[in-house]
Amino acid sequence: MRIAVYERYGPPEVLHLRETHDPVVGATEVLVRVEASTVGPSDSAGRSGTPRFARLFFGLTKPKHPVLGSDFAGVVERVGGGVTRFAPGDRVFGTLAPAMGAHAELVTIDEDAPIAHIPDGLDAAEAVATVDGFLTALPFLRDLAEVAPGQVVLVNGASGTVGSGAVQLAKHFGATVVGVCSAANAPLVTSLGADRVIDYTRDDFTEARGAYDVVFDAVGKRSFGAVRRALTPHGVYLTTVPTAAIMVQWPLTRWFSRGRRAAIAFTGLRDIRLKAAELALLVELIEAGEFVPVVDRVVAFGDIAEAHRRVDTGHKVGSVVVAVSPVAAPASSPSLKQAGS
Ligand SMILES: NC(=O)c1ccc[n+]([C@@H]2O[C@H](COP(=O)([O-])OP(=O)(O)OC[C@H]3O[C@@H](n4cnc5c(N)ncnc54)[C@H](OP(=O)(O)O)[C@@H]3O)[C@@H](O)[C@H]2O)c1
Repeated sequence: MRIAVYERYGPPEVLHLRETHDPVVGATEVLVRVEASTVGPSDSAGRSGTPRFARLFFGLTKPKHPVLGSDFAGVVERVGGGVTRFAPGDRVFGTLAPAMGAHAELVTIDEDAPIAHIPDGLDAAEAVATVDGFLTALPFLRDLAEVAPGQVVLVNGASGTVGSGAVQLAKHFGATVVGVCSAANAPLVTSLGADRVIDYTRDDFTEARGAYDVVFDAVGKRSFGAVRRALTPHGVYLTTVPTAAIMVQWPLTRWFSRGRRAAIAFTGLRDIRLKAAELALLVELIEAGEFVPVVDRVVAFGDIAEAHRRVDTGHKVGSVVVAVSPVAAPASSPSLKQAGS
């Protein structure tokens, strides 16, 4: 099979395809022929070795995980003797996270891990595009913020992968949703369910006072200090991006504050059984038409460096998909797919 590999940290051009042996399938494992995977900011961090602390995970002096990518969608090629839920030919999607290796033509995954059948109406590129945004936004909004009907939730970075997932989920939880992105992406964010969109190039949402029950900074651009007064008296600030400040504010406000709180989560590291249950919930929401994929573009496997270049802009619209096998045909413009349409 072919895999996308890199031997040193650097620009997108360090990536290249090479042949390797096919993986061995364990008794409880499913072998999936990957049609589509995604490139996201964590793949970009792994490739470039920046920020520097990322090297604690990716390798101090050189990369120790030669194949990046966590999310996959494709077709089951073979199953181990103990597998009961999947059979060859099934169309499936899921994630290997916190492990990597999905930028490969074949992956193996335990049947109890986050793998599910692709809902009808989605192709592999669309299916894989839903995974990261949903599995990241859900623990933040449901578990950390406990978003309830009637609350006002602001999502900063609302047109990205995590942000577009958060807008849809906050709406699903019954919140009034304010999305923050540039003007060009406002129509998309509105179509995902936002009641209002703020263009961050013109207006600063942190100037509001006591306005938001939850501010989810999906792109980690604003600090708790900057956002604090825009929160209601018991409001919650959430960020996806670790900083020294949030690592202190998180425990401090959790244990000692009777008012506003700040929190971060590392969703990729969560228990795989939890994530498997959450993937099943994602399938339900897609089938109910309450969660749709947002695909920035689909890039051929051989052009994976181009996918990294797009991610590095910090302005992708939803997810950048890599068509690992030729089945997920390359397209170049952002698209929004309504499940079942
Ligand atoms: N903690 C965790 O467990 C976890 C899990 C997954 C991901 N993450 C992290 O989450 C972050 C977001 O990932 P992603 O894939 O969603 O990123 P992304 O798709 O690249 O985010 C793009 C979004 O950011 C917006 N944006 C860019 N500059 C902005 C600014 N100055 N102010 C407000 N919005 C701005 C873009 O808006 P325009 O294009 O309209 O300008 C767009 O909405 C990454 O840092 C990733 O590493 C963390």
